[in-house]
Amino acid sequence: MSTLTLRPASALDLTLLATLEARSTAHPWSEAQYRGSLESGHQLFIAQLDAEIVGLAVIMLVLDEAHLLNIVIDHDWQGQGLGRQLLSELMLRMRQQGALRMFLEVRESNTIARSLYESLGFSECGIRKHYYRAEQGREHAILMEASL
Ligand SMILES: CC(C)(COP(=O)(O)OP(=O)(O)OC[C@H]1O[C@@H](n2cnc3c(N)ncnc32)[C@H](O)[C@@H]1OP(=O)(O)O)[C@@H](O)C(=O)NCCC(=O)NCCS
Repeated sequence: MSTLTLRPASALDLTLLATLEARSTAHPWSEAQYRGSLESGHQLFIAQLDAEIVGLAVIMLVLDEAHLLNIVIDHDWQGQGLGRQLLSELMLRMRQQGALRMFLEVRESNTIARSLYESLGFSECGIRKHYYRAEQGREHAILMEASL
């Protein structure tokens, strides 16, 4: 398989980001959320295999803390090791930018993402009860952190 490459997303990519996520997750960000994120100074990344866009990620870096706000692999490309490659690369880049730790929040029911995070060294550091809207009612957010 070709190597995953990352490039920064710009305002021209916002529709693309929202479209990719809408077809890949049950609870996608809207285009307006991506715009707000970009305007807030977050780092938005597009992951490609050659010319094919296969994923995205959003990170907020505050001093020595990197917060992973979103990570998505396109529906057609999930389960092939790309999420692992993408997150590993993001952890490396954040370390290079001076981050010492990475934090994230994940739905309690998202067992695939949780097992990916655990395998890359994240551990649970808290819980926000009833944080996310769910299909029925609400569900908890699990907070995780890793040293970089
Ligand atoms: C979570 C996500 C980014 C993972 O990316 P991916 O490319 O599908 O995952 P990978 O193929 O790299 O697999 C990484 C690990 O995830 C877990 N995993 C992946 N697919 C899985 C499946 N079908 N069942 C159980 N675990 C699975 C495994 O631990 C796997 O590691 P392993 O292959 O060494 O066992 C991707 O599935 C996705 O975009 N999901 C929708 C959006 C989302 O939930 N984002 C996270 C928000 S917090």
